Formats: sequence, C-alpha cells, structure tokens
Amino acid sequence: MKRQPASDDVEQRGKLYEGKAKIVYATSDPKLIIQYFKDDATAFNALKKGTIVGKGVVNNRMSATLFQRLAKAGVPTHYVATLSEREMLCRRLDIIKIETIVRNVVAGSLAKRTGLEEGTPIRQPIVELYYKSDSLGDPMINDDHVRMMALATPAELAWMKRTALKINAVLRPHMLKHDLILVDFKLEFGRGAGRKLYLGDEISPDTCRLWDRATREKLDKDRFRRDLGGVEDAYQEVYRRLVGDAAGA
Ligand code: TMP
Ligand code: ASP
Repeated sequence: MKRQPASDDVEQRGKLYEGKAKIVYATSDPKLIIQYFKDDATAFNALKKGTIVGKGVVNNRMSATLFQRLAKAGVPTHYVATLSEREMLCRRLDIIKIETIVRNVVAGSLAKRTGLEEGTPIRQPIVELYYKSDSLGDPMINDDHVRMMALATPAELAWMKRTALKINAVLRPHMLKHDLILVDFKLEFGRGAGRKLYLGDEISPDTCRLWDRATREKLDKDRFRRDLGGVEDAYQEVYRRLVGDAAGA
C-alpha cells in the first residue's frame, strides 16, 4: 500500500491564495497545502457578502468526513489530514478551471434555465460544466468549449464526469440515510503529482443543496442566498446529521 504523506512534521508557510470562503497556505512540503476554512459567505459572484458563524468549522469537518468516505469507495481526493477545527492538510493540486455540477432534483439555475419547477425530480442524474472564472461569472460551458480552451484533455474530462457520477452514487444514499436529500452539488478536480487527478476543494452546505427528507426544508447556503433566515442553525443541523454531535463545542 502507498504511504500517506505524514502530517506531524509539516509546517505552515506563506499564504498562496485567498478565496471567498478559504485561505490556502503553502507548507514545508511542496506536495502539500493547508486549506483554512473561513466563516465568510458570498453569493451571486460576491455581490452579496456576509458571515455565517461557525461555517468554517462545519465545512472543514463535513468535508473531511465525506472525503474519507469517498476515498474508501475508491475516489482519489486531496484530503490528507485534519489539523484543527478550521485547517485541513491536502495534496497540492493544479486545479482544473471547471466547476462540475451534479443534479438529482431541479433547483437554482437549472429551474431558471428550463422553467421547470424547483423540486422536480430528475430521473437520471445530470452533469453540467461551468468555466471557473470570477470575472466572467462562471458561465456554463460544454465539452467543445473545454477542448477549445484546453481546460482539460478529453480523457481528463471523461474521468471527471464519470467520477462526479460515482461521487453522487456514494453520497446520495449516504445523505438519505441521514434524512437529507442531495439535490445538487459542485465539485472541483485538480492534477497532483504525475498529473494524476484528484477531487479537491470541499463538500459542504456551501457547495451542496441539501433538503430535509420529510419537510423538504432547505438546509444549505440557499438560506443565505435567498435570505430565508436560520442560516447557522441549518449548517449545525447538517453537521449533527453527517458528522456527529456538538459542532464547534
Ligand atoms: P446553481 O443551481 O446555482 O447552478 O448551483 C448548483 C450547485 O452548485 C448548488 O449545489 C450550489 C453549488 N454552487 C457552488 O458551489 N458555487 C457557486 O458559485 C454556485 C453558483 C453554485
Ligand atoms: N461562489 C458564489 C459567489 O461567488 C457563491 C454561491 O452562490 O455559492 O459568491
């Protein structure tokens, strides 16, 4: 078996990048980075800004739990170790500038684009691609645009789509067991050593739509995006169901 990179002797170095929800730090090991999860929240390409108290802790722990579950199912992820409540040690990836979305139920931009009512079930899960570009507002693209812009090779794109559906096949029933409907979610992939592909970023209520199985109450970032109130409570509830008791306690 391949040895995991050790986390004990890795030291944090300078800031590499600060995004809307996370800060990425270099480490003493060039193959590893640290993701620091903030409480900052944005929506609509950062037109709306706010804070969701405790979000960083929830997203860090929930992502760790789900990355470990996916690794067991054979999905390579960038997760290496949890360093603290808000810090995750990860493999350093060259992130592919494509946001891969998987959808099981119509919601959000798919409802707007198609006119279908939010909540309409999708018989066969669908995968969408968006160009990861803040300045362009992450426009939807297709395989031909990926090829034209050389964002990924055809083999990489095929792997990403296949892996996105496999991730859905692992996470959807897992979440349902905890009375959560996995409506849709966003994934980011990247190239590690030797151009091997890994799942990167995070899996959290920021990047997934999660509805209560019985009431269909929204338990994700849509509460923030749509000013529904109860934002922190929703994140804590998802944490309780998927990670365990007493987030942040
Ligand atoms: P959408 O319906 O707005 O296209 O969102 C689809 C999914 O992607 C939803 O689970 C939320 C997630 N998402 C992100 O993670 N980042 C984003 O910037 C956007 C717009 C959506
Ligand atoms: N990534 C979006 C933003 O730029 C947030 C979202 O809607 O999830 O603000």
